[in-house]
Amino acid sequence: MQLNNSYPLTFDSWDISELNAIKRVIKSNQFTYSQNVYSFEKMLANFHKSKYCVLTNSGSSANLIAISSLFYKKSNPLKINDEVIVPGVSWSTTYSPLQQLGLKLKLVDIDINTLNIDFPLVEESISKNTKLIIPVNILGNPSELPKLKKLCDRKKIYLMEDNCESFGAEIENKKSGTFGLVNTLSFYYSHHISTIEGGAVLTNDSEIYEILMSLRSHGWARDSKKNKKKQKEIYKFLYPGFNVRPTEFTGAIGAQQIKKVDKFIDIRRKNFDYYQTLFYNHQLFSIQKENGKSSSFSFIFILREKYKNLKKKLFIHLKKNKIEYRLITGGSFIKHPSKKYFNYKIHKNLKNSNYIHDNGFFIGNTAKNLKNNLIYFKKVINKFLIDQNIK
Ligand SMILES: Cc1ncc(COP(=O)(O)O)c(C=O)c1O
Repeated sequence: MQLNNSYPLTFDSWDISELNAIKRVIKSNQFTYSQNVYSFEKMLANFHKSKYCVLTNSGSSANLIAISSLFYKKSNPLKINDEVIVPGVSWSTTYSPLQQLGLKLKLVDIDINTLNIDFPLVEESISKNTKLIIPVNILGNPSELPKLKKLCDRKKIYLMEDNCESFGAEIENKKSGTFGLVNTLSFYYSHHISTIEGGAVLTNDSEIYEILMSLRSHGWARDSKKNKKKQKEIYKFLYPGFNVRPTEFTGAIGAQQIKKVDKFIDIRRKNFDYYQTLFYNHQLFSIQKENGKSSSFSFIFILREKYKNLKKKLFIHLKKNKIEYRLITGGSFIKHPSKKYFNYKIHKNLKNSNYIHDNGFFIGNTAKNLKNNLIYFKKVINKFLIDQNIK
């Protein structure tokens, strides 16, 4: 079998259908959000069996308007200084809107196996000031979403899933991105579906939907589905809004990508099975434990305690063999200088978050058969084991 002699981090998922969709938008001369956006929103909502979907220009923007929307609910709105429980590991823009909107973070450690927020720790970390919990489904792997939903319902706390890394994952036969009052998606280049940049918020709540439609577009009343006078009120502003709108290109490209996503995820999962077979119980690393049905963003490796001093040497070895790797998601929140701008508390400690920040990495998965790439990676690792005299 021919082995590849490199392993890139990201792969392209487009074919001629996306290029044709771009050409159709150019020919139509309609570029700002319109029918292509609305139609992709419907497809996304149907895919998730969700009532409403609001497309945005990125997953980060989706997080921003999703959290903001909770401030404008008529009953029990989120308020400045409310406490929000978040995992110790996520991407920077899960956290940024919390700082920007004056909320307090309570950081809870991750489960070292699934890499998602640790459910028992969430339960014990809830205080009378907790108003929102944001589980982040790490790299294709659903968090304990049914349990979190029950807990939030019981305690009357809002739940928001950051599902930007886990499009199409499932738990208890329900898609991730459908458990919270608001839930976010990202279509950035390397993700399960790509519109280059792009994101969305999903919700089943009609009040939140109206708020999101306004917040995405300057805070105006014009996009309201309920407001009968909206034609006369095109310059009326309801909320302190943003402009995080997608263009027609996002809608047109996304509509092509979502038609193929079941096949994409199927292939990603086959690659994921192969990774699990190759690295189950490996002497050098532990790997991510699947919770529910992962849509597998990537392949995660965490150096075992005994070998963590070999990280530098291992990374040099991977580089030399043209294997691209990177930090797991954005690593641990408290390892970044940006933390000084946040109002945060740590529940107990972030031992696991810090451990995977320092000793973990991932390599890419995609909707192509990566058997040869994974065999190549394993061969490179075997060479490392020999060089380091590890049996
Ligand atoms: C967990 C998480 N949330 C939010 C985002 C932001 O998404 P985007 O890159 O589309 O802004 C990312 C980015 O990949 C992410 O990993």
